Amino acid sequence: MSQTKPAVAAPLNSLDEWEDDLKRRYPEPAENAPTRKFVATDPNKKKEQFRDYRAEARASVKEFYRLNHTQQTVDFVRAKRAEFLPLKKRQMGIWEAIDFLNTLVDDSDPDTDVPQIEHLLQTAEAIRRDGHPRWFILTGLIHDLGKILCLFGEPQWAVVGDTFPVGCAWSDKIVFPEFFADSPDAGVPEYQTRTGIYQEGCGLDSVMMSWGHDEYLYQVVKAYLPEEALYMIRYHSFYPAHREGEYDHLMNDHDRRMFHWVRAFNPYDLYTKSETRPDVPKLMPYYQELTAEFFPEVMNW
Ligand SMILES: [Fe+2]
Repeated sequence: MSQTKPAVAAPLNSLDEWEDDLKRRYPEPAENAPTRKFVATDPNKKKEQFRDYRAEARASVKEFYRLNHTQQTVDFVRAKRAEFLPLKKRQMGIWEAIDFLNTLVDDSDPDTDVPQIEHLLQTAEAIRRDGHPRWFILTGLIHDLGKILCLFGEPQWAVVGDTFPVGCAWSDKIVFPEFFADSPDAGVPEYQTRTGIYQEGCGLDSVMMSWGHDEYLYQVVKAYLPEEALYMIRYHSFYPAHREGEYDHLMNDHDRRMFHWVRAFNPYDLYTKSETRPDVPKLMPYYQELTAEFFPEVMNW
């Protein structure tokens, strides 16, 4: 906890803190979770510690969103797309990417010492238990690999956080909407109308989302997975749309159909990461076969 870190760039103790806050905002309905029960990330931790952590988390999460909302501008997103989307940072296979993400150690987090691979396997295993198709299970395994952006030196607010369209008016259903008042884009009238730089019903493929791990991974894997999986990956953090129903005016009918899958994925994303620790060596053969079915040995990142 006392580890030194840049106060401004990294207000969160870990990337998981954003997701813990999502669970606070979107608690799992009891009737949807007959076999799952929510526990803190470390099941052995006492209630009181958890309460303390929450109290501390709130200020950091708020600061995280302040940084996100004031800096995720049209110009910023364009610059990050130009920097990363040529996919020329690295060439690696999916398991190398998982190992790479695993080097992201949240040792300053009082609640989390679960390696990222375990988070990924927890999500995938919950999907497998519910009898979903292989591509859906695979999506659970890989959906957060875009978080390797952190390891390329990107700040937390440009890797995680609820995503939203840039270049048009912000929905007031986005978490902490008041912070947008201090975004440079607030002073650009063209960006402040309902559709902004877009056309009504243009479809999300034409819409620039705030930059983060969703869009990055989508671009890496888009040649290899079914479209339903790609929607899940590309929009899994788009809470203003899939949980709040906002931005329908930018969607086309195809997006609306595909968002069925984004919503189907969301409970696995949010509510599976705090359960029993998976037996990684035992699960490995299954997942190695699964990844080999869809991905080439080396991909561009
Ligand atoms: Fe994610």
